[in-house]
Amino acid sequence: MVKRKRIYSCDSCGAQHLKWWGRCPDCDAPDSLSEREEEPDRSRAAHFAGAISFTSLSKVQANEAERFSSGLSELDRVLGGGLVPGSVVLIGGDPGIGKSTLLLSAIANIATSGNRCCYVTGEESLDQIGIRAERLEVGKAPIQLAAQTCVESILANIKTEPPMVLVIDSIQTLFSEALESAPGSVSQLRESTAQLVRFAKENGVCILLVGHVTKEGTLAGPRVLEHMVDTVLYFESDLGSRFRIIRAVKNRFGSVNELGFFSMTGGGFKEVKSPSAIFLAGRGESVPGSIILVTRESTRSLLVEVQALVDDTQGSHPKRVAQGLDAQRLSLLLAVLHRHCGIAIGERDVFVNVVGGLRISETAVDLALILAIFSSFRECRPPSKLVVFGEIGLTGEVRPVPFGEERLIEAQKHGFRQAVIPQGNLPRKQIPDMDVMPVPSLDQALEIFH
Ligand code: TYD
Ligand code: MG
Repeated sequence: MVKRKRIYSCDSCGAQHLKWWGRCPDCDAPDSLSEREEEPDRSRAAHFAGAISFTSLSKVQANEAERFSSGLSELDRVLGGGLVPGSVVLIGGDPGIGKSTLLLSAIANIATSGNRCCYVTGEESLDQIGIRAERLEVGKAPIQLAAQTCVESILANIKTEPPMVLVIDSIQTLFSEALESAPGSVSQLRESTAQLVRFAKENGVCILLVGHVTKEGTLAGPRVLEHMVDTVLYFESDLGSRFRIIRAVKNRFGSVNELGFFSMTGGGFKEVKSPSAIFLAGRGESVPGSIILVTRESTRSLLVEVQALVDDTQGSHPKRVAQGLDAQRLSLLLAVLHRHCGIAIGERDVFVNVVGGLRISETAVDLALILAIFSSFRECRPPSKLVVFGEIGLTGEVRPVPFGEERLIEAQKHGFRQAVIPQGNLPRKQIPDMDVMPVPSLDQALEIFH
């Protein structure tokens, strides 16, 4: 009998080590190594050198994949126009944000239109799913349910009659008999997902995987699976709010950074058709420290409120806190404000926030952010129907951003009448009822407050 080596594998990043460490030498996670026998290396056994035939690219038909609708237009939108047969979609998000609810409503729609759908749960009992289905008013939908966590059993049972859609809730609870490590460990996640992906491709089944992840993405979880699946969607809104935002962070069948908006009601998810309206809801008079930004997420322009609070420092070090924005970018912008406009905020605390839990990564937020900070610092109100967008360079210049005209049209539709924008984004045609103020540099943009 071959004696297998003992190894120490990290539950966080999957790295393997020959001896035990208090912290994983690869990812620095504390107390994450567990001892087990080395898995047999199957790659050494596979020495088959079969013939393959190459096909020339020009002969490959560029078939636009046939899609089918999930019955939720906002979910279809983030997926790039619907679900694709044979694709694997991973849906990540904090516990309790609504992953199971969303998928249950989606497959209830698909099943009701006469397609075979299976829902496999490893987290909840069948009764719990029944109660949820009652709440969503889809208790009668012809969905096949099973509580099972062994990936080989799941696949063996659906092989004879593969469904159109298979939901796995969640991938962290699955395990493969081929491995000895515990469910949820990185090697189990990889193996289970690999088997599911192979099954999806061979049988044309669309598989939807639920994955838990913390905001930092540090947990052994979806992050290691992202390269194995076709599409990765994340819930990114905060749990406190009724609204839920889903972002496509990877999509082999559509564009990334597409957003879908839902609101969580007593009877499940409702699509939000006009997301700008929800971000602006409840806003009254303009106040110091608040600026409306027109941001662009893939194919849609959105109006969101950027807030800043500049306050005297209580401790020895001034704080810099950014929610929904990049904290390093904030420091950079404060340095530009100091160097090119002579406004020193170095000794104050600065807090910035994007209302509604949206995360903004585009640089078009720069100008709105600086104006919000300046407005809080000087306690001066911005004009009430003002929108702002533009990138700021290190020399204090205001640089153009993509889709300037589309952003202005969106703002105009929602009743905004004044816009401070980069000079390079000045539209060719005048926008009706809109007073557009193009600015070449940051110091000129600050003049709106005088
Ligand atoms: P759930 O889908 O179980 O979250 P996840 O699978 O991501 O952990 O839903 C979580 C929350 O949604 C739960 O706190 C209850 C709430 N909820 C509603 O507000 N309305 C509803 O119709 C349903 C089904 C759930
Ligand atoms: Mg769940």
